[in-house]
Amino acid sequence: MSGKHLVIVGGGVIGLSAAWRLAAAGHAVKLVDPTPGRGASWVAGGMLAPVSEAWPGEETALHLGEESLRRWPAFAEALTAEGGSPDLSTAGTLLVAFDRGDADQVDVVAEYLAKVGREAERLTSRQVRAAESGLGAVRGGLLVPGDLGVDNRKLLRALRLAASRRGVEFIEDNVTAVEPGRVRTASGELDCDVVVLAAGARSGGLHPKLAGAVRPLKGEILRLRARRSSLPPPRRTVRAVVEGRPIYLVPRVDGELVLGATQYEAGFDETVGARGVRELLEGAERVFPSVGEYELAETAAGLRAASVDTVPFIGELEPGIFAATGHHRNGLLMAPVTADAIVALLAGEEPPPGVAAAHPERLEH
Ligand code: GLY
Repeated sequence: MSGKHLVIVGGGVIGLSAAWRLAAAGHAVKLVDPTPGRGASWVAGGMLAPVSEAWPGEETALHLGEESLRRWPAFAEALTAEGGSPDLSTAGTLLVAFDRGDADQVDVVAEYLAKVGREAERLTSRQVRAAESGLGAVRGGLLVPGDLGVDNRKLLRALRLAASRRGVEFIEDNVTAVEPGRVRTASGELDCDVVVLAAGARSGGLHPKLAGAVRPLKGEILRLRARRSSLPPPRRTVRAVVEGRPIYLVPRVDGELVLGATQYEAGFDETVGARGVRELLEGAERVFPSVGEYELAETAAGLRAASVDTVPFIGELEPGIFAATGHHRNGLLMAPVTADAIVALLAGEEPPPGVAAAHPERLEH
């Protein structure tokens, strides 16, 4: 394959993954972002769990998520071989229910997982507490062993390292406009054969076809640390719905616990609100009461790239411009399938299964 000159707009998990894989495939790649490796990807929980973040009924997103989940072990292995590990966790997810309504939702997820052939085990209240000590008064749960997880910040560092090693040139600048074969930045212009638009929540402002189709969806997270006197964090990701709000608790190998996430329509506001912190702490204490004794190490907010139909946009927007954006709540999960798709599409090859349904042309119908 003859290498093309490419400019990737955006240095979150999608832009970095695409840059790394495209450079490895022989293309000359420049990546433009004022702060590569930050943005929503820096704030993410790191769950690679299709069925926890999309709901039966959102089949297109679920299929794409499952396809990407299958690609994650090889993706993590290839990344680790480049010098940095994302700490892939195979501990799985535990969904817990506190009342009858939650238990009904868990049943829907269990039925869906059985339908698509994914392993899942229903647990009684006693079995839940045996699986994870320290949980609150749960009614029952569902253990999903096939879900994976990563440390999002280690992942971003590893991707930057891998991309640099493969020759990706990082340009720390703001993109002001995208045209076929040209990217305008605050300080100049970059000419190329193809632009890959991976600017997350800001993508809607950079191409007319994405205007109104990709928007910011704010999320806040907390990072906590167990004190010597408190219970250690759960061993696996624990998810629940508390007072109608979904919450997740994701342990890191270094003993940190990530609590997420709120979800608001707040435009481009990236400040952390007191209400968000309160809701997350109250929800987490219901799930895992010892959280109240933990050190609150960090609060952070990020802007998910919400898609109008929850499905990302992966494919040609017009000759010379490809979209890789709109991953909604699933940027980390869908990074491998998106990067593989862009590499295949630029080579004129068939993209991975499920990607055709994410083509931006669906906006025209
Ligand atoms: N995928 C986690 C979140 O969007 O909160």
